[in-house]
Order: sequence, then structure tokens, then C-alpha cells
Amino acid sequence: MAFEKIPRYLVSFDTKNLKRSESDVLIIGSGIAGLTAALKCCQNHSITLLTKGELKETATWYAQGGVATAMSEEDSPELHYQDTMRAGVGLCEPEAVRVLVNEARGAIEDLIELGVDFDRALNGEIKLAREGGHSLSRILHSGDTTGSEILSTLVERIRTCPGIKIQENVFVLDLLTFKNRCVGALVFEPKNKELIIYFAKAIILAAGGCGQIYEVTTSPSIATGDGIAMAYRAGAEVCDLEFIQFHPTALDDKKSPRFLITEALRGEGAYLRDCAGKRFMVGIHPLAELAPRDIVAREMVKVIQKCKACGKKKGDYVYLDATHIPEEILEKRFPAICERCKESGYNLSKDLIPVSPAAHYVMGGIKIDTFGRASLPGLYVSGEVACTGIHGANRLASNSLLEGLVFSRRICAFLKDHINAVAEKDVFEGSLTYDLSRKKKSIAVPDLSADRHGGRQDLDKYKDTLRKIISSYVGVVRDKEGLKKALAEISKLSEEVFEIQFDEVEGFELQNMLIVAELIIQSALAREESRGAHFRGDFPETDDLNWKKHIILRRDLRVPKYMKVKDA
Ligand code: FAD
Ligand code: SIN
Repeated sequence: MAFEKIPRYLVSFDTKNLKRSESDVLIIGSGIAGLTAALKCCQNHSITLLTKGELKETATWYAQGGVATAMSEEDSPELHYQDTMRAGVGLCEPEAVRVLVNEARGAIEDLIELGVDFDRALNGEIKLAREGGHSLSRILHSGDTTGSEILSTLVERIRTCPGIKIQENVFVLDLLTFKNRCVGALVFEPKNKELIIYFAKAIILAAGGCGQIYEVTTSPSIATGDGIAMAYRAGAEVCDLEFIQFHPTALDDKKSPRFLITEALRGEGAYLRDCAGKRFMVGIHPLAELAPRDIVAREMVKVIQKCKACGKKKGDYVYLDATHIPEEILEKRFPAICERCKESGYNLSKDLIPVSPAAHYVMGGIKIDTFGRASLPGLYVSGEVACTGIHGANRLASNSLLEGLVFSRRICAFLKDHINAVAEKDVFEGSLTYDLSRKKKSIAVPDLSADRHGGRQDLDKYKDTLRKIISSYVGVVRDKEGLKKALAEISKLSEEVFEIQFDEVEGFELQNMLIVAELIIQSALAREESRGAHFRGDFPETDDLNWKKHIILRRDLRVPKYMKVKDA
């Protein structure tokens, strides 16, 4: 579907006819970015926090490895900076990375004060693990379930804050704009199939990633790219979307989403082996199995193809080998992984575990500055949905949870001094309307109770088709021919799907997934070089002369905009 055909809003509405709610700050999302923002901002402002599932239904909950922060005597923010910059292959924004590494320690101290229980040695010192691309051990963790430890602590705190109104199981359809400013959100309440308007002086979008557009992903079902799609529809700039990170070691048991086997296991000494039992990463990169993720994932794809061609193996996987690590260490340090492998019939200390790369994280997102401000005034963005420029072309392991923490803190510090100065008071008296059909002159209130879509089976069919297209042509390796095919097929699918007026969350999610898929393809087509997670078979070299720049898309631009990486 041509970009100009993407509707501004997913449904028609007239705010005069809808229930409305107001607060100083509206937060969308209950992962680490959303909850950190809520806890920080509630000290100064009234908060409404919306989330489409229950509070814990987030990618954050599933985080295993941990949070990267320079804590040890031999480490420093400078070393963390260098590792992050190196992993990002020339596309990291130096100022944003400085902010991340310099503010990491303060953010971690906050978490500890809130009660997050990171693993400690007998002498009380925090234990630090090693992950890919890090030159030394700097990952704070809580066993192999760091995300759930952090999120449960934040949820417990949030529930006791009087200034925070929490709404679970509500779906944010769109960001409302008025006089070129974001003033709130249009929200669908599935239980009553009702639309509600939430106005606020500042909107913090923390809606996570878009891994669900792929067939094989570690991302949970909430990761349908709603945040990127709604911000794009509202006119915000999105950036770096060609960079999708594939995590090398997802358990290949065909379940969806794929269960992650943390990189920390390789940090503890586990090997990757091909079908002949050879450690194939040795000689490919000085860090071998602990090379940055893009390098490991790409090598795995090559090895899998070779193994299939020689007929030794039929499946799309290689092997993770932890059999030389003592069983008691594995069970103590990685209890959840041992348990989950057992459920799928593998004993981590005795068996080779089949693993394959899975879509895991989107480096790009809504473009923001170092105060979390999007190009659309009134809109602030934090977490995976944002593009700070920290990750460049490839995110360094365990920098994502940290980014959500650091940038949500920064947004709230900024709003403390600026929220009243930027509030558009008159919006609350005004009214907003949108007519999706654009055929009628009058503004229609949508009849969301009418069953005008093709039903559940169609939805599943559309989603499967979308995922097949993206996985076939926009995976670890892409080229012009495949990307063009993907664009044509996604456009065709979109034409069909955008004709439907959905009245259920999965339908709206599908529309968002299609928009994000199209944005990713457009960006991947535009970047005619290979860099980090974006590998073009037809342009295999990295071209610093022409491509040390970001690709920015905005709905009113016919062609991408380019922005040079700033000097360190
Ligand atoms: P999320 O935690 O994904 O939260 C998004 C929120 O937005 C959810 O509450 C969702 O319901 C809500 N939402 C989305 N759309 C809407 C809508 N339309 N309306 C209302 N609400 C909406 N990173 C690390 O740094 N360390 C790790 O160890 C690590 N391990 C990982 C393991 C796995 C299996 C995965 C998938 C990722 C891992 N990552 C890790 C990445 C990291 O977990 C995520 O990038 C990070 O948690 C994202 O946090 P977030 O707050 O931005 O979004
Ligand atoms: C992992 O534990 O391997 C995931 C860490 C991350 O995605 O940063």
C-alpha cells in the first residue's frame, strides 16, 4: 500500500461524543520504560498508565541476561561506551551513548533501593556476568529471570502510588494531535467495544518492539509494533528501522514465541557447534561465541545452510553445548533454562541443545533526542519503541533494559521543569474529529459493535501471510530483489486489510504490523550497504563514505530523509 494511503487514524471518531479522561502525564506501556516513567513522574504529576494486557505482559518480563552497567573496579563508563560504539558499527550516536553509560550507575542504584535483588557473592558484592560484545563482565542479573525480578518489584511499587491511575486491558489505537502537537490518545476498550479519549499535557510512549511480525521470534505476543505505527501515523519521525536484531540462541523446539537461551550461558563458557560437532565461531571473530550478535547470527545462517547441503542434518539449527560446564553450576545459575529445556526433552548438562537465530529486538524506532523528545511536540518516547541512536546498527547485549531505565528517568526530570510551560491548555475545550471513510461530510461515530470483518480465520491467515513474507525476504540476509517482492506483497495485503473496519484488538494489531513491516522494508531497501544487523547480499561491504547516516521516515515525506552520525 502506498504510504499516502495509510489512514491518519485507525477508526473514525468525534471527541464530543466520547468519554474522556485527563491527567498531567499519559504513559502507554507497562514494561521497564513505562513503569520507571510512572514511578519517577508521579512525584510531580498526576499519571494515567495504559497497557493492552495485564501489567506484566511485556518483553521486560522475559528478559534473562540482565542489565549492563560498569560496576567493577577494572570497568568504567568509558569502557562500556567503547564496547557499545564498537558493537553499533559506526552508527551509534556518541552523545546518547555517553548519557547511557554515565547515568547507568544511578539508575541501577535506584532499582536496588526499590528492592530489586541482583545476585551477590558471599561478601555481598554484586555478581557480574559476561555477554557478547562486552570486553569484560558487567551484566547485573537475578539468576536467569532478571526481567521478572525487576518488573515484579516495579509493579509492587506502582500499585501503592496514589497518584497513578492504572488501566489494564485497554488498547491505545492512536495518538491524538491538535495544532501539530500530541495531546492525548484514542483508546479502545475491548470489553465494551468502546472508544475513550485520554488527554494529557505530556504523553510518554513506551509500547515496546515489533518482533511479532516475524515467524520465529523471542518477542511476546504484545510486540506488534503498535507504538511505531501510531507515532508514524501521527507524523513523528521514525529512524533506523532496517536494523532488526536476531538473537543467535533461541531454543529450536518450534514453539512460538521461541524460548531464549541467554547469551550469559555462552558467557559462562558454552560453545556453538555445527552438525559435525565443530566450534564454528573460532577463527571467525576474536571473541568466538561471544562476538556481537549480528556476527554470530550471520555465521549460524551460513553453517545451517552448509549442514543442510551436505545432508547431515535436516533442521534449521546448530547446537549449543554446555555439557562441559558442571551440572551444579548450570542448575544454580540458569534454573529456568534447565527447567524449560527439560520440558522440551533436553538435559542442559548432557545434551546438545538445538538453537537457531530468532528476531529479538528492533534497534530503530521513533526518533528522540537525549531528553526523550520525539519530533512531534508533546510526545516523549522511551524503551524499545524509541530510537535514541544508542544501539546504532547492532545493540550491545543487555543495553536495552538500561536504555529504558535511563531515558524514562531523563524524560521525567525534563517534565518536572517543563510540563506547564508546554501545555496547550485550550485543547481540552476543543474537539477533534476524524472520518476514516472520507466520503461522508459529517463525522461518523464508529459502530464498533458491528461485525464487519471476515472473522478469526481471516485474521490468522493475514498474520501468517505477513510473517511468511517478512521472514522470507527481510531476515538475517536481504537483497534488492527479495525486498522488492516483500514490498509488493505487503502492499497488496495492506490494501485488503485496510479496507476492513476491525472491532477487535487483533485486527488493529494486524494493521499496525503491516505498517511497521512496510517501514522496515522501505528502510532496508534504501540502505545499499551491509552494516551490523542489516546484511545485504547484493551490497556485502560496509560503505562508511556514503552510509554513516541514519534513514528517517515520516508520513509527509515522499522519500527518506538522511541524517549523518554526529562526531564523538
Ligand atoms: P516492553 O517491556 O515490551 O513493554 C511494552 C508495553 O507496551 C507492554 O505493557 C504492552 O502491553 C504495552 N503496549 C504495546 N502496545 C500497546 C497498545 N497499543 N496499547 C496499550 N499498551 C500497549 N534486554 C536486556 O537489556 N537484557 C536482557 O537480558 C534481555 N533479555 C531479553 C529476553 C527476551 C526473551 C526478550 C524478548 C527481550 C530481551 N531483552 C533484553 C530486550 C528487552 O527485554 C526489551 O527490549 C525491553 O524489556 C523493552 O522494554 P519496554 O518497556 O520498552 O517494552
Ligand atoms: C540474553 O540474555 O541473551 C538477552 C540479552 C539482551 O537481549 O540484551
